Amino acid sequence: MRDVQVFANLEELSRAAADVFQNTVARCADEGRRAYVAVSGGSTPKRLYELLATPPWRDHVHWSCVELYWVDERPVLPTDPQSNYRMVEEALLNDVPLPPTSVHPFPTELASPTAAAEAYDLELKEVPRTEDGWPRFDLILLGMGDDGHTASLFPQSPALSETERRAVANPVAKLDVERLTLTYPVINHAAHVVFLVSGAGKAEVLNEVMHAPYDPTALPAQGVRPVDGTLTWLVDEAAYSLQDDD
Ligand code: 6PG
Repeated sequence: MRDVQVFANLEELSRAAADVFQNTVARCADEGRRAYVAVSGGSTPKRLYELLATPPWRDHVHWSCVELYWVDERPVLPTDPQSNYRMVEEALLNDVPLPPTSVHPFPTELASPTAAAEAYDLELKEVPRTEDGWPRFDLILLGMGDDGHTASLFPQSPALSETERRAVANPVAKLDVERLTLTYPVINHAAHVVFLVSGAGKAEVLNEVMHAPYDPTALPAQGVRPVDGTLTWLVDEAAYSLQDDD
């Protein structure tokens, strides 16, 4: 049974997502272990990050237990306006007590996207692993583009078929750029994957992702199927407005 939670608007959706983040970290803290979280860029989750940097979340999240990673990144320096790291830094990191040693951005200052992906692939070995050797994130936050992409897993792109590496440089023809991204095995071995989808512009693709035949090459968000974790969709009414009946 798909877990879809529909909210009136992006603000309510973001508040719910902030609670998921806080509760995930609290559960890890209660279990005496660190909380491994991977965050996406784009515009949708920005409000979530801003909320986490303000009361009550700022003061209630056990920041000392958090290890923060990125789901994907653009091939730009961390100071670039296009950088997902910069967006999270400005919305969240500048206002919460997360030590730099617990912040793990893609190393885009390296010589090439391939070098950055290879370095990140190695860094992801620090994340606690599943029995079959994959990083086990406690929470992965995903957005979805209006073409059905998620992370930087774009339709028809090579990374969709990656089964060995944890992170890759993925050539995205329509953007004429290589994007850095976690791969499906990492995303699908997470304990909890949460999509944040907002706005009427996503309604058509959300309906396709949820009801069209399974075809992750065309609709990469369909390829997010946690092996033994849970998948939650946090959507607003505008994005959910075109849903066919199951
Ligand atoms: C990125 C994101 C990307 C994003 C989708 C949706 O680097 O842009 O990680 O996968 O989640 O493009 O973006 P919006 O939330 O801006 O619609």
